[in-house]
Amino acid sequence: MLKSTAEKLCCPARIQGKPCQGQFRLEGQGTRDEVVYGALECERCGERYPILEGVAIVVPEPGEYLLAHVKGISKFVPDSQIPSEYRDEFTEQREALEAEAGEHIEEDLESGRVNALYLMNHYLGCEGNPETWWKSVPASESPEITEWIRRYWDRGPFETVSAWIEPGQTVLELGCGVGGLCRRIRGKAKSYLGVDSSFHSILLARHLNLGAPYRGELRFPGDLLFGNLAREFTLPIERGGIHADGVPYSDFVVGEIDALPLPSGKFEVTVSMNAIDMLNEPKILPEEQFRLVSPGGVAIQTGPYIWHDRIAKGLRGRMPKGISDSAAVVEWLYRICGFRVEKSEPHVPWLFFKHLRQIELYSVHALYAKKPD
Ligand SMILES: C[S@@+](CC[C@H](N)C(=O)[O-])C[C@H]1O[C@@H](n2cnc3c(N)ncnc32)[C@H](O)[C@@H]1O
Ligand SMILES: [Zn+2]
Repeated sequence: MLKSTAEKLCCPARIQGKPCQGQFRLEGQGTRDEVVYGALECERCGERYPILEGVAIVVPEPGEYLLAHVKGISKFVPDSQIPSEYRDEFTEQREALEAEAGEHIEEDLESGRVNALYLMNHYLGCEGNPETWWKSVPASESPEITEWIRRYWDRGPFETVSAWIEPGQTVLELGCGVGGLCRRIRGKAKSYLGVDSSFHSILLARHLNLGAPYRGELRFPGDLLFGNLAREFTLPIERGGIHADGVPYSDFVVGEIDALPLPSGKFEVTVSMNAIDMLNEPKILPEEQFRLVSPGGVAIQTGPYIWHDRIAKGLRGRMPKGISDSAAVVEWLYRICGFRVEKSEPHVPWLFFKHLRQIELYSVHALYAKKPD
């Protein structure tokens, strides 16, 4: 984590049901600008949030988080760096997982595949890209898949959202995944902070946008005859999250949308792409976006609205008469928080490349809403 990021964060611990919001004292080792291993300590309640391999884990129960993510974290972080109060339990769980490694291969392949799909989606362009990454040998090319990629790949939610961000704005992204929006708006936004609950995604986002080291390989699907992730790819890495004038541009931390480690009113724009339908309580997203932006600030949200049945039922039970689809219900959630919905795109195509013979097309609703001055 960049040292300057500590000033933007606050303590997400709950004290008698309310967020503590204390400021942090930063400690640890790393480079001049960055802490690679260390901790953020709350000056109010004393809770400590670990920074592991450059990733600050700023969630309400950091110990529970570490123990629930032993598998993902232990691939990149040695046991000796786990805070001593959780280390024995962490090591025990890591050893138990290794002992039964064979049983988990399917799950590992699945998580590697999901990351690969998002990395391609976030970082590979179509137009102007001389490398036609969606084919490996000429005979394997499907003319139809090529046509769909040429038609839709560069017209997805990233293009819509980056066009809505204005030069010089301070941007916060919630559920940022592997961080491709940061790259798109570099040079346009004044600053960018990404938050996601996935340790691996934040590690990859920091690698690709700040040049932080990454101990894994970046592999992508091709012809499934040669395996699930048959190709190794080199993605361009941007070095440093700091402008030439020494002012930090970007960083990424682990955090949870329902307990964000962020004070109110400090950003001009908050973006959340394709995450609202993963929340147990979707209305928390617009409520948090409203709290986080300054007066006159903007919330941008996109979603394919793949609701879990239980969540959809909850929404149907509350929404007013006359609402006939997911886009309208989400716009209503933004309005009842106090936002004015000013722009809306009903169907933005969002294409995933699954392998040489399979692509997947989603249709995403995008909205732009303003908090009154
Ligand atoms: C469908 S992915 C979308 C990723 C990226 N925004 C995009 O559009 O490609 C949803 C992301 O939200 C994150 N996420 C889900 N629930 C979250 C929560 N409660 N707090 C923070 N991030 C969350 C996931 O880890 C994942 O990266
Ligand atoms: Zn605190």
